[in-house]
Amino acid sequence: MNVALYEKIWMWAAGALIATFLVTLVAGLAGSSLQPPSHVETIDPAAVDQDPRFAQPGVTVDERGATVIVVASMYAFVPDGVRLPVNRPVTFRLTSRDVTHGFQIVGTNGNTMVVPGYVSQFTTTFREPGEYLVVCNEYCGVGHHNMHGTLIVEEARP
Ligand code: CUA
Repeated sequence: MNVALYEKIWMWAAGALIATFLVTLVAGLAGSSLQPPSHVETIDPAAVDQDPRFAQPGVTVDERGATVIVVASMYAFVPDGVRLPVNRPVTFRLTSRDVTHGFQIVGTNGNTMVVPGYVSQFTTTFREPGEYLVVCNEYCGVGHHNMHGTLIVEEARP
């Protein structure tokens, strides 16, 4: 088959463009540790308080990192102001007892929807100590703009 030089150039250029897009996608996924929300775990939103997974919201810290159990409802996150270790993986497990909320840790890649009936989970590592703002970024009612919280990231105590 005889393909004109000009056509070959365009074919290679289009192929290179597709390869570049794929490399960018994979590098972006690996580099910023984006985690697709594939974690499907359900919960009865009317019985969050009785569910052993969420009956006691709070933080557990050990030498490997921390786990934070968060219950979102109009218009607060419980618990608020938790203390987390820097440079260790922190796993957030969240659910809602009423409507869909958002949980965005401003300035980090920690961001998830909190949907009633489901448990949202993600793991992130804070590289800088300090106070982090958490905002609800899904419109959840008249108090939506007041739904925020803080996380305090500090050096892990020995
Ligand atoms: Cu909760 Cu907006």
